[in-house]
Amino acid sequence: MSEIHFGARIAAIDAAAHDGMHAPDVIDPTVDFLAELAGNGAALEFGIGTGRIAIPLRARDLGLRSRPVTGHGGGVARQAGRRRRSGDDGDMATVRVEREFTLIYAVWNTFINLLSQDEQVQCFRNAAAHLIPGGYFVVETLVPRLQGLSLGETVRASAFGPNNADVDEYDVVAQRITSHHYWNDGGRWETWSSPCRYVWPSELDLMGRIAGVALVARSGGWLREPFTGESTSQVSVFGRPAADGLRSRAEAQR
Ligand SMILES: C[S@@+](CC[C@H](N)C(=O)[O-])C[C@H]1O[C@@H](n2cnc3c(N)ncnc32)[C@H](O)[C@@H]1O
Repeated sequence: MSEIHFGARIAAIDAAAHDGMHAPDVIDPTVDFLAELAGNGAALEFGIGTGRIAIPLRARDLGLRSRPVTGHGGGVARQAGRRRRSGDDGDMATVRVEREFTLIYAVWNTFINLLSQDEQVQCFRNAAAHLIPGGYFVVETLVPRLQGLSLGETVRASAFGPNNADVDEYDVVAQRITSHHYWNDGGRWETWSSPCRYVWPSELDLMGRIAGVALVARSGGWLREPFTGESTSQVSVFGRPAADGLRSRAEAQR
């Protein structure tokens, strides 16, 4: 069972701290991108959180088509408008759902909440096992700027002010970054630390191969920006091959 470092208290704080992630110029291209891949098919979000993406994705074309969006890891956002975040009701590495999906996605660094390579491979396998032939698994995750670290340096502040500080602690052997957050909440100092295991694009591709899905496209963001040596984020799309004799994507969508 993976460690989960989110909860209701953190959800509220996190949502306030990352207001920008809820802005239309972030949500809209993400939903556009995912909706195009989902077509008329069903989608599953790993680590759904508040439904930041699942709710607008489900709402897209509502009434014209049926595109159920189911989520695991933060509650199920089947009902549009319901906002919930718990993170503890389904581990994306192991959760089983009794159906297949055209699209499965893990966005906003959700995937790197799995803290070991084994769990990350297991998550890929789990996604592949729930995809229809021709379906897609999309991972959006950060690419750490290790070029910015001096040799031997392990701690970097990413934000610093009189009432808050964010400090990232790097372990380049374990491929971990633990982000420590400190903030002054009306005179009382609060703290929260969240670890992640960052993953290189090449490693992600190998995980895909192990799981039987192949890289279809990689960009530096949801607007399909080119992925370069300076990209700080990757949006990687893996596809399950369509196979003769298996149900086609169109059949599964009916
Ligand atoms: C950065 S938030 C992103 C939430 C949502 N995907 C979004 O884009 O708004 C990461 C989410 O991953 C969930 N999570 C962490 N570990 C998980 C696991 N092992 N299985 C499923 N969800 C997990 C957390 O509960 C949290 O909701």
